[in-house]
Amino acid sequence: MNIEIILEIETYIQNLFASEDPILLNVKKSMLNSCIPPHNIFPNQAKLLTLLLKAGRCKNVLEIGTLAGYSTIWLARAIPEDGQIITIELNNEFADIAENNFVEANVNTKVQLLRGEALNVLEQLDNNGTDSFDFIFMDAHKPSYIAYFDWAIRHAHPGTIIVADNVIRDGEILTHSPDEKAIAMDAYNKMLSKRVDIDTIIIPNVSGNGYDGMAVSIVN
Ligand code: DHB
Ligand code: MG
Repeated sequence: MNIEIILEIETYIQNLFASEDPILLNVKKSMLNSCIPPHNIFPNQAKLLTLLLKAGRCKNVLEIGTLAGYSTIWLARAIPEDGQIITIELNNEFADIAENNFVEANVNTKVQLLRGEALNVLEQLDNNGTDSFDFIFMDAHKPSYIAYFDWAIRHAHPGTIIVADNVIRDGEILTHSPDEKAIAMDAYNKMLSKRVDIDTIIIPNVSGNGYDGMAVSIVN
């Protein structure tokens, strides 16, 4: 099966179940009009995350890596009115654009954007005595994923869902690639596989950006 057929199947699924409204399309435009890299998740992945949120009746969400807020808006729409999302962004220019997008999407009351290097921000959250989270989505600096996970598992409860984007890296996790992101993702996946306190599967995906996948873990 060639990649074109897989992409057509993805589009077929998207048209049926994960179509984007003008607000989400404008978020993508805001990325094209700035220097934000086009690393937003794809609609079918976003839809899957919303189903996981609903299955887990998740209210308290943490997202590490905001970019323009594309995934944040999908997540915000899927949690109840009294749900809250903390999303962390390192780049101030991206954060300004994301905050504007949250207002445009009318989810700004559900979303708190924290600026800074994620591990520093997480440490501050610790110092402020943060609650546990029901859902944690990591999509930021790949070599920090294991450190993000170590924080996540300390702020989880049975049933917490921990999702990590980009764990397949175009298959480079198979090839002993010297790429630091691929090495980090392989290490992350192997770490997950050894833990007995979580259950995990990787959901592979194909997009215009190639082959990738999300690791979905649930805390026992
Ligand atoms: C990269 C990061 C992402 O979060 C993504 O979805 C795709 C690529 C990257 O840093 O290469
Ligand atoms: Mg990503």
